[in-house]
Amino acid sequence: MTDAAKELLQVAPALRMRLGKDGKYPVVRFVPDGRKPAAPDPNTVWVDGTGLFHIIDDTAELAGRAAGKVAVVTGAAQGFGLEIAQDFAAQGARVCLADINADGVNAAAAAMQKQYGQSRVMAVAMNVTDAESIRQAVRSIVTYFGGLDVFISNAGVLKAESVKTQSETDFEFVTSVNYKGFFLCTQAVAPVLAAQHAADASYMSDIIQINSKSGLQGSNKNGAYAGSKFGGIGLVQSFAMELIEDGVKVNAICPGNFFDGPLWSDPNNGLFVQYLRTGKIPGAKTIEEVRRAYEQKVPMGRGCTTADVMKAIYYIMEQRYETGQAVPVTGGQVMLH
Ligand SMILES: NC(=O)c1ccc[n+]([C@@H]2O[C@H](COP(=O)([O-])OP(=O)(O)OC[C@H]3O[C@@H](n4cnc5c(N)ncnc54)[C@H](O)[C@@H]3O)[C@@H](O)[C@H]2O)c1
Repeated sequence: MTDAAKELLQVAPALRMRLGKDGKYPVVRFVPDGRKPAAPDPNTVWVDGTGLFHIIDDTAELAGRAAGKVAVVTGAAQGFGLEIAQDFAAQGARVCLADINADGVNAAAAAMQKQYGQSRVMAVAMNVTDAESIRQAVRSIVTYFGGLDVFISNAGVLKAESVKTQSETDFEFVTSVNYKGFFLCTQAVAPVLAAQHAADASYMSDIIQINSKSGLQGSNKNGAYAGSKFGGIGLVQSFAMELIEDGVKVNAICPGNFFDGPLWSDPNNGLFVQYLRTGKIPGAKTIEEVRRAYEQKVPMGRGCTTADVMKAIYYIMEQRYETGQAVPVTGGQVMLH
């Protein structure tokens, strides 16, 4: 990274803190090759040595539980990630949708921009297993919004197979996205969050990993996934201890099965179809019967929804006395002890 890029990652977040009020922050957009204004302009700020910033202050119009905050969500092209991003926007946040599926997030962000406006939504291509890809994405986010307040590490993959047969390649793929990806993302966003805290000692930010009930309890013939999620909780607890000096809370949310999402319900290769084909539920003859068998494993009798997860996310964000936690959202299927 060039010195200029490093400097932008420090200067823009500090400026955004200075211009914010009551926990809401304006957009502090860097203007590449911008010139120093000849006369004072309330919509721009010139920083010697860094350059020109365009200030878009629409915070008075923003309402909701995430009003005026910047939320970044990885794995936002579909599933939980997309719905989390949509909920944040509906609750007044500025949102960045990040995914390895660039076409998917570009299309989703374009639709959201129509509803909320350009200053509220952006998309970036990001491969969470590639440090350089993450660094570039974080730089784009800081250029566009000026910083970020909540980072949702949601991108995740699953390859369920027996330890007796699973290939090393598949094991490494799951570990790389779910476990190493969280480390790399945290490493890339932590300096920006620290710069914001350095500019305002009362300011706190959030890194939230979307973990799983399989991070709290083993999963039969699904060891690579459960291991990556257990490992994620080890990282969450450790990063929480370390990053609190920079005002960063680090927590995990552990959802139960999201039966309505594409992972389970995709009509071609969703888990319900796969389990019907492979006879995983003895006697089940239809997708509905497979689904019912899984719903019956949950004391509350239904799968997890994004609305359930959002309640946990907003709790964590609003809480100023909680870090290093793994919050189960499982309808009672997994209980802490
Ligand atoms: N679906 C469930 O039942 C369930 C339950 C508990 C927890 N979770 C967790 O929730 C998260 C989201 O799950 P989902 O069911 O919505 O998944 P999904 O498969 O529907 O979506 C995952 C998204 O992550 C993206 N992605 C994959 N690899 C990536 C990479 N290397 N870099 C960036 N993006 C990448 C994909 O393109 C996709 O858009 C995962 O971490 C998963 O483990 C899911």
